[in-house]
Amino acid sequence: MTAGETAASFFKYASISIAVVVGLYATLLGLLTTSTVQSHVVYLHAIQMTWFKDLNVPETFGFLKNQVTPFSIKTSDGERLYAWHILPAELYRRHEQPLVAEPVGFVSDITSRLAFQLLRDNPEARLIIHMHGAAGTVGSGYRVPNYRALSAGQPGKIHVLTFDYRGFGRSTGTPSESGLILDGLAVVEWAMNVAGIPPSRILIFGQSMGTAVSIAVSKQLALQSPPVVFAGTVLVAPFVDTARLASTYRVAGTIPILSPLARFPLLFNYLQCFIWDKWLSKDNVAQYIRANEANDEKYRLTIIHAEDDYDIPWHHTPILFWHAVNASVPAGISYNDLELRKLESKVDLGAAGSVMEWRTDNGVIREEILKTGLHDVIMGYPVITMAVMRSFAAVDPAFTC
Ligand SMILES: *[C@@H]1O[C@H](CO)[C@@H](O)[C@H](O)[C@H]1NC(C)=O
Repeated sequence: MTAGETAASFFKYASISIAVVVGLYATLLGLLTTSTVQSHVVYLHAIQMTWFKDLNVPETFGFLKNQVTPFSIKTSDGERLYAWHILPAELYRRHEQPLVAEPVGFVSDITSRLAFQLLRDNPEARLIIHMHGAAGTVGSGYRVPNYRALSAGQPGKIHVLTFDYRGFGRSTGTPSESGLILDGLAVVEWAMNVAGIPPSRILIFGQSMGTAVSIAVSKQLALQSPPVVFAGTVLVAPFVDTARLASTYRVAGTIPILSPLARFPLLFNYLQCFIWDKWLSKDNVAQYIRANEANDEKYRLTIIHAEDDYDIPWHHTPILFWHAVNASVPAGISYNDLELRKLESKVDLGAAGSVMEWRTDNGVIREEILKTGLHDVIMGYPVITMAVMRSFAAVDPAFTC
């Protein structure tokens, strides 16, 4: 073969390969516009990650015997959500003997259990409602160290309630935006009416996709009459909305799916019409703040993100923070003006990152940007413990005693 022929065949194969890649990508995009495929991509609920472990044996996830009570919660539209009630370590220690003596496994009537009674009957008990991210179950990944960090500040008092959304793990149904919001509301309803915990002793924690559910639920309850406002809402690694997430998301932190298209705004805007579940957290957070300001309700919103989060870039957090702050100012504030205010009042913590706190007469909106923590390792960090303690102590200073 001459050099010319080699070059010609090289170009032939190169162009065929490019055509194949472009064709596959277009097919992928086409599939992504269907609601079933999209819900699998957004929620990743088919990826359980705990296939070889039984959620009804929480001890295999590193818990003490009967520290966790597996049970289920019914939603208003008839789904059954699989849930774990997790006792904090010190409270467990005080009641170790009778807890160990109880039967193990899934419980159909949780009210019969000592662990539940310790939550319901103690006026000092606090409850964190945990809304996890996409994929997996209550037992997967960094969620277990997350539960420990949540209760670490007061391990005699802080219970955690975590659950799998519809279509995840052992829960019935298939996921959707409206469905997941119903799930969050059902769990709140259980906490307030079955466990009898007033909202001032409840905190909502969400990570990643769970932040969108947390804000949507918090907003809905703040807008109802009479409003329900919790001791705090803590969001870790949130996103502004699905469209902006799609333009920045990388699978496993490396493979961009839609971000190459973000360079073609017309095409990208067109594709946005096919996003079924929009999760407009930026609007929900603004409505949540506006409702609380209008109703004179005390509120506390903490948003935490790590700079090395490769799944959801940390830039989502300053935007969400701005939408929240803007809603607390009657005349509004521009993004750039808020950034200027940060230059004056942001606290630089060196290698630990930075904190910006915005206070109004009614509430506190706090942005914490960590230098490290990735997307999910951060959930086990002491900043999570601190965010919980700050929220509960603001409602009742005696809580830390
Ligand atoms: C900021 O707040 C002002 C005043 O409430 C409002 O008119 C404006 O739409 C808000 N900006 C955004 C981006 O939400």
